[in-house]
Amino acid sequence: MSKTTRVNYDAIAPTYDQRTQGGYLEGVTLALQNLARQVKAQRVLDLGCGTGRSLRGLADNFQPSPTCYGLDFSGGMLQQAQRFDARYRLVNASAPCPPFVPASFDLIFCVHAFHHFPDKPQVVQAAYRILRPGGIFAIVNFDPYESRHNWYVYDYFEGVYETDLRRFPRLAELEAMLIQTGFQHVSQTMVEHISDTIMGEAIFDNYFLRKDSNSQLILLSDEAYQTGLARMRARLAEAKANGENIAFQTEIKNWMCYGLKPI
Ligand SMILES: C[S@@+](CC[C@H](N)C(=O)[O-])C[C@H]1O[C@@H](n2cnc3c(N)ncnc32)[C@H](O)[C@@H]1O
Repeated sequence: MSKTTRVNYDAIAPTYDQRTQGGYLEGVTLALQNLARQVKAQRVLDLGCGTGRSLRGLADNFQPSPTCYGLDFSGGMLQQAQRFDARYRLVNASAPCPPFVPASFDLIFCVHAFHHFPDKPQVVQAAYRILRPGGIFAIVNFDPYESRHNWYVYDYFEGVYETDLRRFPRLAELEAMLIQTGFQHVSQTMVEHISDTIMGEAIFDNYFLRKDSNSQLILLSDEAYQTGLARMRARLAEAKANGENIAFQTEIKNWMCYGLKPI
């Protein structure tokens, strides 16, 4: 079982971008570009920006390129972001307390980071405060409540699914949080469907099975991680004995939940 929910991103920052060697999430990038266009973004903020992958997708493909701010708790992740683009304005801070004056941004977004934040309603309130009227706040994440039977990691590593239920709010909760804070036109859209099937032993070459590849496995003790791998090997051996092949499935939908700060 996982005991902590805090991931040390400094430790994995140098290898973090290996997870998108096959290309960054194109649907997420397009959705962010659409929002940037809608608000005619001149100043954008990525909360929990990590190595700046989403900022890169936005800045490289949206003209005129907005001034890009990134905020992250991990100095190591920010160092990687700065290496990619020295123009990023990077801030080492915690998302519930962004050090910006009111009405600083046209667009604020948060990709695969919201579940890490300690006080989620406080983050939404802070985003509201530092957005200009007419600006948009968007959260991109997946909802583990709808992925229970669709990700092999949940099947083989004990406690991971339960930990995710504690970390990730349901999509409906996110919507409610935005509405309660004062956002209007709150809606959600599916922006990226990751679908992958890996057959048999090839699963052990899958990057996402590496312990340092995602927060779900990072949060496991070494012992729990090894137990999960052993469970997979046993299942494969059993299938082989029966002349069967095992399919390891990944079906993850990334949703964008967003709202407009009224004018
Ligand atoms: C899974 S990474 C996502 C990074 C990036 N948004 C992306 O899509 O690649 C989560 C990021 O959230 C950051 N983070 C975690 N807790 C935070 C907090 N309280 N305030 C700011 N950033 C935080 C981590 O340091 C890490 O860089």
